[in-house]
Amino acid sequence: MVAETLVEDVKKVVERWKDKEGNLIMVLHDVQDRYGYVPREAALEVSRQLDAPLARIYEVLTFYNYFKVQAPGKFNISVCLGTACYLKGATTLIEEIREILHVEEGHSTKDGLFHLQIVRCLGCCGLAPVITVDGKVYSAVKRSDVVNIIAEYSNK
Ligand code: FES
Repeated sequence: MVAETLVEDVKKVVERWKDKEGNLIMVLHDVQDRYGYVPREAALEVSRQLDAPLARIYEVLTFYNYFKVQAPGKFNISVCLGTACYLKGATTLIEEIREILHVEEGHSTKDGLFHLQIVRCLGCCGLAPVITVDGKVYSAVKRSDVVNIIAEYSNK
C-alpha cells in the first residue's frame, strides 16, 4: 500500500529540509506524517536522496519511540503491562489477543485492522487490568471479555 508517489513524496520532504542541520529526523518525521509510519521503501529512498547510510536511518528510527516502522492498524489495542495490571492477569489478556488475532506485539494483523502494543502503566491502576482501543479504556478486563471487545471493532 506504499504510494506510487513515494519517490516524489520523499523528494519534496528532502527539498524542504536538506539545508537544515539535523535534517534526518525532520525528514523522517515528515515521512511518518505522510504515511503514518516509515515504510522500508521510504527509508531506502531517504537514504538514497540524503546520501545517508540506511543503518544510520534505522538507528534513528529505533532510538526514538515516536517512530513506527510498521503500518499502524485501523484500531490500536494497547494492553497495559505495568505492575498493577500484570499482577491482575494482563498477560492472559495478551495471550488471548494473540490467539484471536494472530498478531504479535508491535505488529498489525494481516488485514491491517488491529495493531497490538504493550504499554507500561496507563495511569489508571485502580482499574487494572486495563486495555485501551484507540484510547477508549476497558477496565477490570477478564480474559473472557477480550473476544467481545475485539468483536466490537471487527464489526465497525
Ligand atoms: S499498571 Fe496498568 S494502569 Fe497502571
